This record gives sequence, structure tokens and C-alpha cells, in this order.
Amino acid sequence: MSFSFSKEAIEDLKSRIDIVDVIGRNVHLQKAGANYKGLCPFHNEKTPSFIVSPQKQIFTCFGGCGASGDVVSFVERYYNLEFNDAVEKLADEYGIDIKKNVYKSDDREKYYDINREAARFFYRNMTEKKNAGYTYMKKRGISDTVIKKFGLGYAENSWDSLYSYFNEKGTDPELLVELGLLSKKENRYYDKFRNRVIFPIINTAGKVIGFGGRALDSQTMPKYLNSPENRVFQKKNNLYGLNLTRQDIGKDGCAIIVEGYMDAISLFQYGVKNVAASLGTALTENQAKLVSRYTKNVILSYDADDAGQKAALRGIEVLRGENCKVKVLHVTDGKDPDEYIKKNGRDAFIRLTEKAMPYIEYKIEAAKRGLDILTEDGKIDYMRRISPILADLSPVECDIYIKKISSDTGISEGAIKMEISGNSITKKEETGRLRNHPPESMSVIPSLEATVLKCLFIDPEFAEKVLPCSELFRSDLGKKTINIIFELYGLYGDMSMDQVTDRLDPAESETLKDSLDKIIISGNENEVLDQCIHRWRYEKLLNRERELRDILSLADENDRQSVDRLTKELMMIQKEMKSHGGKM
Ligand code: CTP
Ligand code: MN
Repeated sequence: MSFSFSKEAIEDLKSRIDIVDVIGRNVHLQKAGANYKGLCPFHNEKTPSFIVSPQKQIFTCFGGCGASGDVVSFVERYYNLEFNDAVEKLADEYGIDIKKNVYKSDDREKYYDINREAARFFYRNMTEKKNAGYTYMKKRGISDTVIKKFGLGYAENSWDSLYSYFNEKGTDPELLVELGLLSKKENRYYDKFRNRVIFPIINTAGKVIGFGGRALDSQTMPKYLNSPENRVFQKKNNLYGLNLTRQDIGKDGCAIIVEGYMDAISLFQYGVKNVAASLGTALTENQAKLVSRYTKNVILSYDADDAGQKAALRGIEVLRGENCKVKVLHVTDGKDPDEYIKKNGRDAFIRLTEKAMPYIEYKIEAAKRGLDILTEDGKIDYMRRISPILADLSPVECDIYIKKISSDTGISEGAIKMEISGNSITKKEETGRLRNHPPESMSVIPSLEATVLKCLFIDPEFAEKVLPCSELFRSDLGKKTINIIFELYGLYGDMSMDQVTDRLDPAESETLKDSLDKIIISGNENEVLDQCIHRWRYEKLLNRERELRDILSLADENDRQSVDRLTKELMMIQKEMKSHGGKM
């Protein structure tokens, strides 16, 4: 079951809250005429182009990122909340009583319900009787409190225990197959997770979206079995544990990102609660965006092995892309943060976080790997690797590192400087060359269009909703893409990203992917899509309203018939705009 708020309740809430006050708590705003101005919190900018209008009670970024909306959408975006949670947060903070209407919402709810039911089933297996999963977790030192907090469960060593449970409840087994809880062979269903400790993956809205299951011994393969990607689970959009730790991350002003389930759980148990796990993949752009909603200070604490260190280097770049201040923490004892904290305790780990390397230092350090910098060849290769890193720094930072490197390698500071300036020249030439290409913005898909496309890729069935609004697509690539989607959907009743990119040329599919990567759908796609359509309709009305006003102001007073007709249309439009809540 889910709930909603009535339109009136939301309007009432909005009328009692000042958007300037809400945004002003997070963004430094300065008065600019009738409006307020500040640095946009949704993208990196140096000159303020983020405008908050107290009259219209909306915000808009004119600096290219295109963020805009009312107070609720600000809270949604800023805190990465779903619509309802954003409304509740505002109501709480301003002490406003707001009535909930409980109702059955979109059909993803049924998947969440099943996942939650499965999580409870696994949890009962773990906690209500003796079982191998519990013994295993105890052996690894995990406390009952943490088992409860993370809802850890156990999947029995059986082919049909989960299946029978859901079968008795009358749940359609095909849904369980879609969620990866069952598999189907020759028309028979089998439990997918068997004899494994279950880690439910819960998003920041508190929904169980998937599971990871750890084998209880080192022979069983794979070590971790994870839910497949499905309608409610996209690994790349989530960080494990964040549902429990985001407040601490916000409070501490720092997030520690680890690789594994066990790392997150272990640190949490030892009281290091500002942690979340990227689950073995290199950090994705969406994960970086997600964490940067709560803090821009991120410490990467990956495994000590080669793979972990490579993942850290990639993670640095992704986080830098979201303007995070990144540090890298090296565990000095044990292979990962879990082992380290178990051996050395909380305080030792905290000391490591305090000594975590700024990412530049880490990159310089990493560049040494595989080289013997005492040999001549080693020195040359090392300089080649690090000069592009140094060329990106401010002069003061650069100077500090040059001194360090010089004393490390014995290369003179002058020679290092020359190497770097050579590098910055090639870099400038390159940027110069790039400038001759058509400006990127021409080929980029505007965010409204990209958001709609993203929703469609999540659920192709939205095509039916989008079809009547196809005018919404105005960019060339946007138009081309939506036409391909409609064609595929018309033919097969389905479509996928790959099918679409197959029909675009490589540069176009790159641009499409880039544009989509920039969009995060926080929460319910259906609502996001509705908001997009709403915004587009409103803009269309707004344009027509302006046009009518212009025509009317120039109209021949004597042509009563035309003036009447136009005035009527104008009034209709104004009425409709009002019923849109006057918002964009
Ligand atoms: N992982 C995975 N599938 C695997 C191995 C790893 O999905 N076959 C993911 C899991 O999310 C895991 C993370 O990668 O948590 C890190 O892997 P690893 O370091 O091997 O696991 P740990 O979390 O450290 O688990 P443990 O301490 O139990 O070995
Ligand atoms: Mn481990």
C-alpha cells in the first residue's frame, strides 16, 4: 500500500511555506530585484544563475542545468527524496498537519511488496530458529542488533522453501521470476537463493529493491549472488546501506564509500555510520550523484587489492565529475575495511580516515605502481604519467607537489616544471582543436526530453502516455530518438536502449547516453514523467498566452468577433494554467 496527498493539502502546505526560506537554508541567497539569486546546488557554477522567485514560489537555474520547480521539487532533488517523502519532510519541519490518502499506487508497488515479504521471510529464517546463516554471521562477529538493523536474512538450503511460501499466499510465481527470487526450468520453479545469507538492498525511500546472497563457504560459487536488474532494481542507481546512513553522512559532512556489503555492515557495527557500499562495481555517475546529495566530501575506502585500487582511481574521476572533494583511504592491515576494523577497532579506523590521501596525492602515488623510479627509465615514465595530473592543479598546489616529487625522485624542480608546461601546451592545443568542432550544446538533448526518454527506457509502456505529447521533443536527436522508440514499441510492444542505439549513428548514441546519464530519476518514474508532461503543457499554455496577449494588443478593436474569440481563448488558457497550480 502507498499513500498520496490531496492536491488541496499540497497547495495548502505550499501556501504556508516560503520557498525562499526553505532554499535559503541550503543555498546562500542574495536579493536581486524582486527575486533571490545564488549558486545552483544542482550543478557546479561560479557565477550565480540560480533564481528563486518569492512571488511565483519557484526556483529556476538559468545556468544550463535547467533545474526548476516549486518548493516540493526542490526538496525532492536536494535531498533525493520521492515526492511524498519531500512533502512529509516539509510538513514535519514546519509543523504542518497534512492528511494522507492511502491508496494502491502504480504497479511497481506490487514488486516492492513481494520483495518486502521475501525479505521478511528470509529475516524470520535468520532469527527465529537455529540456522547456518546465523552461525556464519556470528562467526564473522556480526551482532544481533546489526542483523536487525540491516534486516539480514537466511535463505534455507532448499529448492522450494520460498516458492512454497509464496505459493500458499497465491502470489504469481512469474513475478518472483522477474524479481530473480525464483528461476524456472521446464515449467518448474526453483528458489534462486539457497543456503545463503541474504542482504536486502533497500533504497532511500525505504523500499526493498533487491537482494544479495552470500555463500557460507569459500567453495560455493558465486560468492555473492545478486538480484538481476529488473523493474525495481538497478544496481548502478543505488548505494547499499544509504537508507540507514544518509542522516549520519549529512551530519558528519562526509561519506565513506566501501566496496562490499560486509564492509558497510562491519563499519556500521563499530560505530562508523557514515558509510555506504557501491557493491563491487566501479562507482557509477548516478551513485556519485546520489551520495553528493548528502555531502560533497567523500572518502573512497576500497579493497587493498589491485582491482580495488583501480576502482578507486575510476571512482575519483566519477566523483570529481560531481564536484566532490575526494580522498582515498588505504587500509594498512587486512584486505578490506571490514577486516581492518575487526582487527584494529574503531579509533584506529577513524585515524585512517583522518589521514586519508587527497585524491591528487593518491593519483601521484598510484602512478608509481609497476615502475622503479630509481632507474632512469622509471623516472621518465613516472614523469610522463604524472605531468597531466599536475598540469590540472592550481599553481600553489602544483608547487607543493613538485617539491615532493623532486625530493622523491631526485629530478630537479625545474625539469619537472618544464615537463608539466609541455603537457599544458599540448592540452591547450587540444582544447583549441576541439573548439573548432560544433559546440556540444547543439547536439545535447535538453533535460526535459532526456528525462522523458529515461523514463521510457525504464518502462517502455510509458510510450502510450508520451505518444500524445510527442511535440515535447524539439531537439533533432530527441525527435529522432522518440520516433525510433515509437516505431519499436509499435512493432513489438517493447524496446530497449540497445535497440534504439543500434539505429542511431555512433556519435548520436554517445550523445544520447551522455544526456541520459546526466538525469537522475529520484523516486517514482510515473510521477516524474507526469511532472515532465505537466511542465511541457504548462509551457505550451504560457507561450500561447503570451502570443494571444500580443495579438490582442494589436487587434483591430472594430473586429469584435475576432477580439471576442481571442479573449475567450485567453480566458480559457488562463483558467487552465490556474488549474495546473500555476507551476512549472
Ligand atoms: N560481489 C558480487 N559478486 C561476487 C563478488 C563480489 O556481487 N561474486 C560484490 C558484492 O557486492 C561484494 C563486493 O562485490 O560485497 C565486494 O566483493 P568482496 O570484497 O569479494 O566481498 P566482501 O564484501 O568483502 O565480502 P566478504 O567479506 O564476505 O568476502
Ligand atoms: Mn570482505
